[in-house]
Amino acid sequence: MDKNNELLTKAYKEIQKNKCLVESDYYRLKYHIMPPVGLLNDPNGFIHFSGEYHVFYQFHPFNTSHGLKYWGHYKSNDLINWESMPIALCPSNWYESHGCYSGSAINNDGVLTLMYTGNVKDDKGNRETYQCIATTEDGVNFKKNIYNPVIYNQPDGYTRHFRDPKVWKYKNMFYMVIGAQNIKEEGRVLLYKSNNLLNWKLVGEIAGSNINRLNDFGYMWECPDLFELNGKDILIVSPQGIKPDGDLYNNIYQSGYFIGELNYKSGEYNHSEFIELDRGFEFYAPQTTLDEKGRRLLIAWMGLPEEEEHPTVKHNWIHCMSLPRVLELKNNKIYQRPVEELKKLRKSEISYKDVKIENEEIELDKIYGDVLELLIEIKEEDALEYGIKLRCSNDNREETIISYNKIDKKITLNRNKSGKGYKGIRRCRLENSDILKLNIFMDTSSLEIFINNGEEVFSSRIYPDKESLKIKFFAKEGSIKLKSVKKWDY
Ligand code: FRU
Repeated sequence: MDKNNELLTKAYKEIQKNKCLVESDYYRLKYHIMPPVGLLNDPNGFIHFSGEYHVFYQFHPFNTSHGLKYWGHYKSNDLINWESMPIALCPSNWYESHGCYSGSAINNDGVLTLMYTGNVKDDKGNRETYQCIATTEDGVNFKKNIYNPVIYNQPDGYTRHFRDPKVWKYKNMFYMVIGAQNIKEEGRVLLYKSNNLLNWKLVGEIAGSNINRLNDFGYMWECPDLFELNGKDILIVSPQGIKPDGDLYNNIYQSGYFIGELNYKSGEYNHSEFIELDRGFEFYAPQTTLDEKGRRLLIAWMGLPEEEEHPTVKHNWIHCMSLPRVLELKNNKIYQRPVEELKKLRKSEISYKDVKIENEEIELDKIYGDVLELLIEIKEEDALEYGIKLRCSNDNREETIISYNKIDKKITLNRNKSGKGYKGIRRCRLENSDILKLNIFMDTSSLEIFINNGEEVFSSRIYPDKESLKIKFFAKEGSIKLKSVKKWDY
């Protein structure tokens, strides 16, 4: 058996062997992408190609920690019903012997083409890094290019932390950004160009730590993505090594963006400050694509590196993807909205209007559950603090609290009493909150909270008891009015 078949067979055996154990987990999700077994991390190769959406993912089938990475594959017509496809890439060649690491997809004149990083470790554990190409004719079977690797190692002045190519086309040329670390251990994003995806030329460094007012801004920048949004060049990146600063940068690693203008000739990129994309606990390595409807879509890993003690590991699986979101640039900020298609999943609407709450905590008949969408508009009156509690148990021991404080204008997600798993609080300031709009997606063990039409998003995993299903609304030291509450089961 050749190496590729051998690796594939091993992975499929693992999936088969664990199927019952994995699927018997209450915390499996109902409308998010998950691995069939083992670990899922970054989304890769997100593309809308010939009317179909493809998302690949970093996949370690053999256990729930990071190891030999494959590319798993899902496909969809509508971004909500995802079909699990055969594994797309196995680490079967010398230039990827320790994993087919992250990368992207591009439509090269009708050929769906992947570009990714081949990760190799030598006997002493030293890393080598190779950029590779694979193509498919049927959208299912992928063939690695005979000229692989198309970029051998990293340029002078950089370490072997050199990975995650994101490719796009601009004025008849291919461009690619890649995450890097220089020998001073500063995170960098480099820009390359090519006219055939095989021969690449370095244009230059476009951004990094200790450049452009970014003092001490990380030792490695992973998973860059560069694209145009409303006339600006946005660079998304996941830097590692930024210290927490008040409400900011509280997760182990961050993902955020710059707004700027890229000079494609010189590689100069004048950009804004770094803005975090998501304020929740689990969000990393997002990737975007432009779909055939002209939308800039984003999907992210709802997990973080080095945090692998989620309760699902008992069932031999870990992590999931975020819901796909549409990006828009407004008031010098990226707004993120869940894709419209999700509305197709809505079932049995329950709706309330104009419910006044004063110094109390209330429940609304039929508003409860664990797999649902909520759309809530709260009119601020004189309450100093107000919000909603999700996944509450009967004995009050479990609750996940979303609250807004009128004094400091901050919104908080508190999962200290969310059940099993990691605990903590995340918060951020909201600009204008006369009316607070919350669009909440709960899926058994995931929570995505879109605030004020996507001005902020909190994405997190939570692991409450399966009996903890209550939802409560509260106002402290004054009143609020629930202008509208809508709930749909999913
Ligand atoms: C980000 C990352 C990438 C790498 C991949 C390996 O989470 O570390 O930089 O390509 O994961 O799975």
